Amino acid sequence: MVRLLIFMGSPRIDGNSDILSHALITGAKNAGAQTERLPIAHMRISPCMECGGCDKTGKCIINDDMRPIYRKIEASDVIVVATPVFFYNITASTQAVVERSQACWIGKYVLKRGKLGGKTRKGILLCQGATKGRLLFDGILRTIRYFFDAIDTDFKGALLYRGIEAKGAIKQHPNALREAETLGKLLATGADLESYTPLRNK
Ligand SMILES: Cc1cc2nc3c(=O)[nH]c(=O)nc-3n(C[C@H](O)[C@H](O)[C@H](O)COP(=O)(O)O)c2cc1C
Repeated sequence: MVRLLIFMGSPRIDGNSDILSHALITGAKNAGAQTERLPIAHMRISPCMECGGCDKTGKCIINDDMRPIYRKIEASDVIVVATPVFFYNITASTQAVVERSQACWIGKYVLKRGKLGGKTRKGILLCQGATKGRLLFDGILRTIRYFFDAIDTDFKGALLYRGIEAKGAIKQHPNALREAETLGKLLATGADLESYTPLRNK
């Protein structure tokens, strides 16, 4: 059974990221996946304090809600990050999770440990912003790729939506919820994602 972990990075519960997350979860669950949604903006997760505590062990020493999440990442087969654009970036709570993957980066590149949980995961980004600029998601895509690399996760692509602002506005988008639900199903069944055209993977 595919285990899917979703970082819901918006502070707005039932907002656009959350609605997209639930659509993806519905598709994945209906196709047999085990899913867990983490509303990280409402959890106690510090950014990296650059204390060096992970330098020799690859284990973060900060004792907060991130602690059990490392094990959840290891156990997962699919990681989904769902975040709105905040100032052309991911939200602060999403950034905190990203920074805390530094312990995994140390494990991988300094301590040369094997893959986290002995496997490579699939990684997906769900993201929307209010504006419509061409470069709206470029910085975010780069950050998420590097996050995924640190946690042995192959970036498989992103569902990106422009012009989405008000709480729930994503429901008015002609395709978004259906695309997220279909993606959930494809992830749960291990289907080839290359030919799923709504996914942007560059
Ligand atoms: C603090 C803050 C910063 C934002 N910055 C941007 C931005 O730089 N570019 C943009 O297009 N939208 C920006 N937005 C709009 C949100 O990305 C948009 O409303 C999104 O749909 C919210 O998703 P949510 O309901 O999941 O929180 C910002 C919103 C907030 C609250």
